Formats: sequence, structure tokens, C-alpha cells
Amino acid sequence: KDHQVDIEFNVSNAGPVIDKDIYGQFAEHLGRGIYEGVWVGEDSDIPNTRGFRNDVLNALKEIKVPLVRWPGGCFADEYHWREGIGPRNERPVKVNTHWGGVEEPNTFGTHEFFEFVELLGADAYVNGNLGSGSVREMAEWVEYMTGEKGSTLANERRANGREEPFEIAYFGIGNEAWGCGGHMRPEYYSDLYKQYATFLKTPHGKKPKFVASGGHSEDTTWTDVLSANIEQNIDGISYHYYTLPSGDWDAKGRAINFTEDEWLATMNRTYKIDGYIRDNVAVLEKNDPDGDVKLYVDEWGTWYDPEPERDPGFLYQQNTLRDAVVAAVNFNIFHKYAERVTMTNIAQMVNVLQAMILTDKEKMVLTPTYHTYGMYKVFQDATSIPFEIETGNYGSGDKSVPAVTASVARGTDGKLYLALVNLDPKNGASIDLDVDGAKLTKAVGHILTANELDARNTFAAPEQLQPAAFEASLKDFDIPAKSVVVVELK
Ligand code: AHR
Repeated sequence: KDHQVDIEFNVSNAGPVIDKDIYGQFAEHLGRGIYEGVWVGEDSDIPNTRGFRNDVLNALKEIKVPLVRWPGGCFADEYHWREGIGPRNERPVKVNTHWGGVEEPNTFGTHEFFEFVELLGADAYVNGNLGSGSVREMAEWVEYMTGEKGSTLANERRANGREEPFEIAYFGIGNEAWGCGGHMRPEYYSDLYKQYATFLKTPHGKKPKFVASGGHSEDTTWTDVLSANIEQNIDGISYHYYTLPSGDWDAKGRAINFTEDEWLATMNRTYKIDGYIRDNVAVLEKNDPDGDVKLYVDEWGTWYDPEPERDPGFLYQQNTLRDAVVAAVNFNIFHKYAERVTMTNIAQMVNVLQAMILTDKEKMVLTPTYHTYGMYKVFQDATSIPFEIETGNYGSGDKSVPAVTASVARGTDGKLYLALVNLDPKNGASIDLDVDGAKLTKAVGHILTANELDARNTFAAPEQLQPAAFEASLKDFDIPAKSVVVVELK
């Protein structure tokens, strides 16, 4: 039976702005994320612009990627920036001990990263090495990137081909300090953070937002200790949450050929981030009532078991309609907390985990998740409109979740947008809008849906799943099972 969904709002009410950086991406030196996925080198047969794949660049521009985080992740705490500058053929080859034990040629380094984000029209989020680096190494990297004067470091950047300083939007001081970043206690990390942050000097007006590396999943201790101990030089605390269908790191669940029970478990685990963000935000409200310190969800997304024939260290996984629905559920949750959650990065951009894009040599596939980003781009920097929603549940017992979630916002183009996600794979939803302040009659936009739970795009059939035009009268506004809908309300 279809769900009855009632949504009520007043178009004149304004909530917080949905920061465009909520739609940020994460690109780590992991598997084929950077090498092959983004960077093929200038001599490649694959069409490229100064070494960057044209197909990938064009596809990412299309969804208006606002921000890219690099070089990790766990890799960040093993990365030594000096190894990634200067003539490419003279850079040292390392072993990527975290991810697959493969050779890391360092051909994609600081200059290549900034060139990449500039080609995309995106901002840069650079993650520094606190775990195995030093205060001096990090401070010198920041000076190398941002220096305006004639210092030796700034001149070295110029000699390497970049006259103007690079602009860093966010700078992360370590990553997952509780784990791969050094297995620290939050008290110890927060002391180190203060020491490191003190020495990261930039020219006047060029200081990036500083990110302290926080906790994950249900934990709020890191947010609590960090926000209580670090009084200055901090703009946000990072938080990570991955959706594993089973919740078990040893047997996470399948990316394709899964059952409806696994679909439900995935939705249930995705939805948990709502409570986790609420709890972390409550801790920030206590320690930082002025709202100066934000919660940056700088890693999130689905994480499945690796395909048997692939290198397990590469974290390559297929992406289906289920991932598109998971992304949309997350966006609706992030929008709800837009006051404190002003930046997130999905893990990861190309060929890794819940990717936008999969590549195989010269071939490229846009995933269902990519299409969700495309449909939701109208929410970048939109002003949220508070709303009430009543909906039935999907699933029973402790696994049950709200069947439909939504977002309402006024776009930067002045238009009124509504996003709806129906998580229920069997039943449609009938939407009843009770709107004050405007006479609206129809909904016009796009829908992403399919018959199969694991509908997907493959290299053999790359356009199986694509957004289709959607139009409905508000008198008769139904959306199908397992669908993502983004419409302008007119
Ligand atoms: O995204 C993959 C890894 O997950 C990141 O490197 C790490 O920060 C997290 O554990």
C-alpha cells in the first residue's frame, strides 16, 4: 500500500543556508582513485588536459563539485609533501602501505592537485600529516602553498611553475587520530593540534578553515574533548561515518545481488547518522554555544565487501540505485543540520567506495550516486525552508525507518525546490503538500528510479540508470517505490 506523506511549510520562512561544501568530494591516493581515475599523465592515449582525464573532468564539472579533499584519509598521515613536487620523473617512488602495498609514484602532488581543482572550478581541502610528519614539515608545506613574499619556500613554488600562491579553503590537521592517524587519545591529540595549528602561518586574509580530526560513528567523545580543549585556531571538527549493510567490518555486505533485507539494513544504517549528528551537534551546542566550530562530515558513504577478483586494498565497488537512495537520504539529513554541518565529503570521488565515477582504461561510467549529486546541485547554497513531514515507516521492528525523507529550499536562482526520497522498494508514496505563502500547482524536475534493487550502470551498458523528466500536478502527486525526486514547485 502506498505511503501517505504530509508535508507542511511556509515559503516565507527561512532556515540556514545549505553550504555548497556539503556537496564536497574526497579523493585519496587509494586504489585507482587518483591514478587512472583522475590522472593518466600527459602521454596517455586517453584524452586528457595536461594529464587529467577529460571525460572525468567534464563529468565532475557537470555536477558542480564545490570542494575536493586530498591526499587522504589514512594516506595523509604518511604523505610527505616534498616527495610530490619538482620534476615528475625525479620524484621518489614510495609504497602505499595503507592501500594495497602498491607503488606510489608521487606524480600527482601539490601542483597537480591544485591544477585539478582549478580545472574543476572547485575549492581545495588539503589534509596535513600529523601522524608521521612534524610541525615544521606541515608549517613549511603551508608556507610553500600560500607564501606571497620572496621567501625561499615561496620561490621554490615559483621555480616549480606556480607564480601565484595556491588558495587553500580548508586545511586538516591529521586524520582519524584515533586510528590510522596515530592511535591517540583525544586529550593527547587536542594538545598536539594546538601545537601544530599555532605554527601554520599564512598571509593576511589567506588563512584556510582549520579542521581538527574528530570521531566517528556513535562516538561523541572526540567532539566533546576537542571542542572543550581547543579554544583557538579551529573552524570545525571532522566526523566520519560509513554505511555498512551488516554493520560488521569483517563481512560488510554485497554491493550487488543483494536481498531486500540487505536493502532495508542499509537504509537503517544510513539513517543512524541522523541521531549521531544530532548527538555531536548537541555536544557542540554545550561547548561552543556561539556556533563557531562546525561539524565537518568529511568521510561518509557506503562501504561493501570487495569484489572477489579485485585487490581488496583498492576498495573498488559497484554502485546501484541503493547508493543513489543512500546519498539522497544523507543529503536530506545534512540539510536538516545545515547550521552546524557546513561541509561534507563523500568517500570517494572516482573508483573508490561510493564513487561518482568508475573507469576502466578509456571507458567511464557515471554511477547512480553521480546522478543524485546532479539532481541535488540546486541545493548548493540554497536557503533551507523549515517543514514538518508525516510519513509512514518502511520495515518493521528495530530496523524500521521513515519511508520518505525530504528537503525544501529556495535556490540561489530564487526558485522553490523540493527533494523527496522514497526508501521503500515496494510501495509508492502519495505526497500531500500544505503550503502557506504561495499558490503552487505543479512539481517539475527529475526522478531517478528503476525496477531492480541493484540497477546499475556498467561499462557494457553505461546508461541503464539515468534521471528522467518528472512532472506532477500537486493535486495528484505520487512518487514510485525506491525513487529519488528533485522538483521545482511552481
Ligand atoms: O575512505 C577510506 C578510509 O576510510 C580513509 O582513508 C580513512 O580515513 C577511513 O578509515
